[in-house]
Amino acid sequence: MLRHSSVVSSQVELHARFGGVVPEIASRAHVELLTPVVARALVEAGISDDHVDAVGATVGPGLVGALLVGVSAAKALALVWDVPFIAVNHLEAHLYACFLEEPGIELPLVVLLVSGGHTMLVLMEGHGRYRLLGSTIDDAAGEAFDKVARYLGLGYPGGPAIDRLAGEGDSSAIAFPRAMRNEGLDFSFSGLKTAVVNEVRKHHDAVTADVAASFQEAVVDVLVTKARRAAREHGAKGLCLAGGVAANSQLRERFLDACVEDGLHGFLPSRAMCTDNAAMVAAAGLWRLRHDGPTPLDAGADPNLGLP
Ligand code: KG4
Ligand code: ZN
Repeated sequence: MLRHSSVVSSQVELHARFGGVVPEIASRAHVELLTPVVARALVEAGISDDHVDAVGATVGPGLVGALLVGVSAAKALALVWDVPFIAVNHLEAHLYACFLEEPGIELPLVVLLVSGGHTMLVLMEGHGRYRLLGSTIDDAAGEAFDKVARYLGLGYPGGPAIDRLAGEGDSSAIAFPRAMRNEGLDFSFSGLKTAVVNEVRKHHDAVTADVAASFQEAVVDVLVTKARRAAREHGAKGLCLAGGVAANSQLRERFLDACVEDGLHGFLPSRAMCTDNAAMVAAAGLWRLRHDGPTPLDAGADPNLGLP
């Protein structure tokens, strides 16, 4: 019988007072938190360590220090428990979050993967077969949320803070630019960030909730417009959201509306499956294990790993 658990140990509070992730602190916290997290995962799954079939760990992309801690620990556990080690690509893991809750999703599928480090439109033609249709040429969508929130004094992480405040604001108050909205499938968000700064400098009396709502509206408009164009141009049967920004309330609502209008199957992983989590790493790892077999133990971490 398959037993499972997904334990997430967030470091948000540790980094919040610095306004963003501090790599050295992140690596050290990984060392401290990893053993208790593994122990808790076993308890919550109701198994002992001799019931574990394989150990998967993210090898990239990401911060190299944190990756090395996870990879070293996973290899050590795999050796001790005498089970396979599986290297997992973080981007592929976000894609597999879609299948965790909707195993029957039809392919080809277009996935809008929007996180703190990435903004991508991926055509999934088959399992393990991806085509990158578009990506950001500067900031990632989550990065734009974090930077704008920081500028507005809303703290870290910025996405959830803007999401909350935008609910109280008027999204049509300020017409922020929508860079590259009507051309191609690439994205650009750094001009929007500058536009927010300029707007607040010019209008000191601007209502912060209106700025947040108008900023969010501009990001969501571009994301949804491009995702549906990608699905149309590539004959996708469905459209799926993935990555931390996919937890955004307005993006979720607009995304589903667009899918209904375009007659596409729209898949929205739950918020917990959108932001970084263990279950998505296990899902991608299981597929890789079945497809490629175990990963050799001399494989290392790669901070700049791209989609397979
Ligand atoms: O996928 P994720 O958990 O970690 C990365 O791989 O980056 O994504 C984190 C990003 C952060 O930039 C955070 O601000 C953003 O996702 N985020 C949101 C929301 N929740 C998290 N952005 C907008 N609205 C949200 N509700
Ligand atoms: Zn992520």
